[in-house]
Amino acid sequence: MNLHGKVAVVTGASKGIGSAIAMALAEDGADLVITENVSSAADTAKKIESIGKNVIIVKTDVSRYEDAGRMMESCIERFGRIDILVNNAGINRDSIIMRMKKDDWDSVLNINLTGIFNCTKAASKYMVKQKGGKIVNITSIVGVMGNAGQSNYAASKAGIIGFTKSVARELASRNINVNAIAPGYIITDMTEVLSDDAKSELTKLIPMERFGRPEDIADCVCFLVSERANYITGQVIHVNGGMYM
Ligand SMILES: NC(=O)c1ccc[n+]([C@@H]2O[C@H](COP(=O)([O-])OP(=O)(O)OC[C@H]3O[C@@H](n4cnc5c(N)ncnc54)[C@H](O)[C@@H]3O)[C@@H](O)[C@H]2O)c1
Repeated sequence: MNLHGKVAVVTGASKGIGSAIAMALAEDGADLVITENVSSAADTAKKIESIGKNVIIVKTDVSRYEDAGRMMESCIERFGRIDILVNNAGINRDSIIMRMKKDDWDSVLNINLTGIFNCTKAASKYMVKQKGGKIVNITSIVGVMGNAGQSNYAASKAGIIGFTKSVARELASRNINVNAIAPGYIITDMTEVLSDDAKSELTKLIPMERFGRPEDIADCVCFLVSERANYITGQVIHVNGGMYM
């Protein structure tokens, strides 16, 4: 995919899927704004610079409305435009409904769903002025199938799908594509906490018989933000080794 001259913002790019997405976009030619929150994004930035692309790190808690606005302003100050936004930042705080604390509900919804609202609202202002842009929201297989012990996470991820389709309808005439990717189980810190037994039970449910790699998601992002996906909007692309069809 050719992303030379494009500027991409990726949230939650310090590690895992977000880091792989930022790196893949840079490999395809984009300059990057990456956010860091709790964990440092310096390693991701170093890798991006090592292949000759420009990158800035902006400290951002996506659940804070003002942070999201400031991040996009930093992008405009440094690069003068925003072509691509990948809303990747996310957390889980798992427990069954009877034990779930209100805090666990609030923090997952605030970061996973309100965070996407905050960043999309801030970026779309510039994309509308530029008369074009690509937005990709990272949802989850769990947002479609549900999962015991993840009612907060599933609700946030299902919310992302409704948000994606609505904003896609609003922005289609402005030449802005808005899509979602629903990863299955991907090898990152988020799934590292699963027991070996849980991992092998889950693997039995995956026709491709393996968890995905962060790069499997990054490849799909690169396609969706490229000119080759200009007629795709409002879609949820499932990248899950066949676990959900
Ligand atoms: N790993 C999986 O199996 C899987 C499956 C489906 C969907 N996802 C989704 O993919 C995305 C990335 O997950 P991952 O597996 O790479 O997890 P991860 O824990 O490795 O990375 C999460 C990233 O989000 C950032 N983040 C957390 N809270 C933030 C906040 N308030 N503001 C800004 N950044 C914040 C973290 O700093 C980190 O960079 C998440 O949205 C997750 O829900 C992951």
